[in-house]
Amino acid sequence: MKDETSELIHGEAVEKDLALLRLKPNLQGYDKLRKTFKWSDAEELIDWYPDGKVNSAYNVIDRHALGMNKDKIALIHDDGQGNVQKISFEEMYRETNKFANVLAKLGIRKQERVFVFLQRSPELYVSFLAAIKAGAIASPMFPAFGPDAIRDRLLDSGAVAIVTDTELVKRVYPVRNQLPDLKHIVVVGDANSELGEISYEAEMRAASENFETLHMNPEEFQFMLYTSGTTGKPKGVVHAHKGIVQQTLTSRWVLDLHDEDVYWCTADLGWITGVVYGCLGPWSCGVTQVGLGGRFDPDRWYRLIEDHRVNVWYTAPTAVRMLMAKGDDLPAKYDLTSLRVLYSVGEPLNPEGVKWALDVFDNKPFHDTWWQTETGSILITNFPEMPIKPGSMGKPLPGIEAEIVDEEGNVLPQGHEGNLVIRPGWPSMMRQIWNNQSKYNEYLRNGWYYTGDTAQIDKEGYFWYVGRADDVIKTSGERVGPFEVESALIEHEAVVEAGVIGKPDQLRGNIIKAFIVLAPGYTESDELKKDIQKFVKGHLAGHAYPREIDVVKSLPKTRSGKIMRRLLRARELGLPTGDTSTLEE
Ligand code: PRX
Repeated sequence: MKDETSELIHGEAVEKDLALLRLKPNLQGYDKLRKTFKWSDAEELIDWYPDGKVNSAYNVIDRHALGMNKDKIALIHDDGQGNVQKISFEEMYRETNKFANVLAKLGIRKQERVFVFLQRSPELYVSFLAAIKAGAIASPMFPAFGPDAIRDRLLDSGAVAIVTDTELVKRVYPVRNQLPDLKHIVVVGDANSELGEISYEAEMRAASENFETLHMNPEEFQFMLYTSGTTGKPKGVVHAHKGIVQQTLTSRWVLDLHDEDVYWCTADLGWITGVVYGCLGPWSCGVTQVGLGGRFDPDRWYRLIEDHRVNVWYTAPTAVRMLMAKGDDLPAKYDLTSLRVLYSVGEPLNPEGVKWALDVFDNKPFHDTWWQTETGSILITNFPEMPIKPGSMGKPLPGIEAEIVDEEGNVLPQGHEGNLVIRPGWPSMMRQIWNNQSKYNEYLRNGWYYTGDTAQIDKEGYFWYVGRADDVIKTSGERVGPFEVESALIEHEAVVEAGVIGKPDQLRGNIIKAFIVLAPGYTESDELKKDIQKFVKGHLAGHAYPREIDVVKSLPKTRSGKIMRRLLRARELGLPTGDTSTLEE
């Protein structure tokens, strides 16, 4: 890994023809800006109330609806079956006002947690933004989650309301009686009033279109998103309204959004990319966003770009690899000339992916961007005005101090692998891990925010991702905690112990691999493994199940009983096993 990275560092850069951008990049003169930029400069991008307060959703919707962009299309929602809905900023304003009134009528108070558990649909954006307008902490949840994952999130956050639909609500009921704080279940579609469900449609019909978006202290919370670490249950990463400053700035400077752009982010709102760059940032810039329902389908993706003349496209490396695997004849069938700039995030983007785009999208490369649920917006990235070194994550955003350090916080010399750290205090940085101050504190050491990633910097200041410093698994760009999968596995009656790792995979970056010890009386078989996979999918999540399962006699553990995933991984990949002095046997 080390050699490969070093070699790439000396590799050829992709010089860009800026004429292909058609519009002047919003960020020009990076080197100078890095020296002169102050965060207070970016605060001008946002509308503040005269009392010094702010609301991110006011900036995302209201200010456009009340200004020149009133009739502009905010959302082109394509349900993937050929049904397209176009919704203007003014319509979004009215709809979000109505739903904010619905929440107020339910008695939702400031900073209470409102979960949104919906498939991609206009109602998803409306309920998420309305909750923020009403001063609640909005929390979107990925629609693939099953009852255990839902319980963990709603219970930990003390959620008082959930907005869901007729199908997804079925996954809430198995854990409903474990959620004492949950008072309201709002259902889009056919609500069952006998079960106490509240009908979204009926309430919306009755609600007023006028609502005064709440004035929030910039440090009050706009949304929270659960994400996985190495140990324990998922943790609630909490973001403040002030984050909208950086979410807006990066949408301009990095995604290079211009007024006339049609923009498409492929991420679901259940992940941070969907929240920040599939909703908040781009709308705060007043651009038209495209949303697509349904599953990944190369034909449909290309058709979407053609149909809606998408200019700016933000996607993920796994999707890029899947498109590449389909060959170049397919994109050749579509008119993709509307594309101006392309981005990716979530896992390393292979140099082949960057360069493939040059061939297929008329000399336009993918720009890799790096950030995390915790960082709240893009921190390290390739900018439109700069050459790209394929395989590199690019350079820090002006205003961001990023370094490579050792465990003591000492900055390592250029070219050395180490911990990727950021100087704390950027506007969109998480403010809390919900209910878990000690977890939050673990990120902050020696005056730095430790990202959990390892990386290195080359002599021109480009950052190169090396790997995770912990056991977090990135599968198809989605973040999965091994502990959650292990917990789901041992709930199956045939499994007494489980250890879970990420195993490198050409297409998905990593797949989830489980090592299990069977309970007495069970024997290994394909049927049993399939049953266990189905069980994990049903309980935890459709995407977070082990694609590979090995039955073992015992798992390597430390003397204190912790499973040594590092060792499982080393054995699986034929890597050196390193220090095993804490091994039990
Ligand atoms: O390991 C890094 C990887 O994704 C992690 C953050 O995951 P999540 O919170 O789900 O947010 C993903 C989308 C913002 C990081 O710690 N990661 C993210 N971007 C990149 C990446 N790894 C390599 N290259 C990237 N560009």
